[in-house]
Amino acid sequence: MLIRSIRLAGFRNYTEAEIHPSDGVTVFTGNNAQGKTNILEAVYLCCTGRSHRTTHDKELIKNDHDFARVTVEADRADGMHDVEILLSRISRRRIKVAGNTVSKSGEMLGHITGVLFSPEDLRMVKDGPAERRRFVDMELSQLRPAYYYALQRYNRALKQRGALLRELINAPAASDTLDMWDAELAQSGQAIMTMRRDFIAKLSEQAGKTHEFVANGAEKMEVEYVPSVRAEESGEELRTRLEKELHRARQTDIRRQITSVGPHRDDVKILLNGLDARSFGSQGQVRTCALSMKLSELEIMKKESGEAPVLMLDDVMSELDPGRRRLLIRMLSGVQTLVTCTDIEDLAGADAGKIIRVHQATLQEA
Ligand SMILES: Nc1ncnc2c1ncn2[C@@H]1O[C@H](COP(=O)(O)OP(=O)(O)OP(=O)(O)O)[C@@H](O)[C@H]1O
Ligand SMILES: [Mg+2]
Repeated sequence: MLIRSIRLAGFRNYTEAEIHPSDGVTVFTGNNAQGKTNILEAVYLCCTGRSHRTTHDKELIKNDHDFARVTVEADRADGMHDVEILLSRISRRRIKVAGNTVSKSGEMLGHITGVLFSPEDLRMVKDGPAERRRFVDMELSQLRPAYYYALQRYNRALKQRGALLRELINAPAASDTLDMWDAELAQSGQAIMTMRRDFIAKLSEQAGKTHEFVANGAEKMEVEYVPSVRAEESGEELRTRLEKELHRARQTDIRRQITSVGPHRDDVKILLNGLDARSFGSQGQVRTCALSMKLSELEIMKKESGEAPVLMLDDVMSELDPGRRRLLIRMLSGVQTLVTCTDIEDLAGADAGKIIRVHQATLQEA
């Protein structure tokens, strides 16, 4: 897949901007706070429907504007694809695919595909399970719309069950409705867990190879699925197990006012030479691990769709030692890449197809 154009209007600090990236590496360079990351954020928004920095659409709209618009156009094996997102201060966002407004947000996924690596991603290794679930959720949603929809159904049911738990503490009789939500949680939860298990197995295999390359064979990396409920089987068996566990936890859940089992409590372990990177990894190891996760995701997407997604690297180069930087640059061949940096020297060795200077939200090709 090759992005042909990126258009921004009223997005973050941009009044209006249009970018035609190179097929290879496009570098966005400039001082701090000029608008480099904002461009990657806009592209990522068209890939996933989400910003990597905020969950509030309003923050994405330029201060003195009421609307923001982002349009990304890409050339894929089967023709041109475009996604447009319209954000508004007063109404809900609107998404267009190929010029037509979509009714379900999931319909925008899979047209523009991308992997973003930014300094925030270190949290995926260092922080709690929620960050790692978020990574898996975002990547799997892009790969499989079925995952996205299962997750939507699951989260809705989880919220309803939570509301009911609060009612049941006063009126314990009404547990029929709880049966209904447990059935829905088991049904969509089973689908989520099966897809997570399969994806993480692939991720672990790929991350092992990628990491060996990026870290120059220094250590062995593995990724392990740690589900909240045992998940060896799938389909009906897993659904039944999950439903049973939900029933079993019911009294505790009413008392504690939370749903204590299910994929919303899953974790993913990242291991370096068999040790948990979260507690044992050095700063540099954590960074390389996160990068390996992202590059592995890119490889998986490439294998599954036959096309490489766009790779976005935000402020990554300056953080890597020269050896790792060289290896990363070698991996970029054949992948359309958008890179940001404050110092162009950090990219020494990369064959930049286009260099764009960013200064107070104005872009100038160098
Ligand atoms: N909603 C908004 N309206 C107007 N300006 C905004 C909005 N949101 C962010 N900005 C501005 O965008 C700029 C930050 O942009 P961005 O994060 O892209 O910077 P950057 O070039 O990546 O900088 P760094 O090198 O520090 O990472 C800041 O000046 C900020 O004030
Ligand atoms: Mg930035």
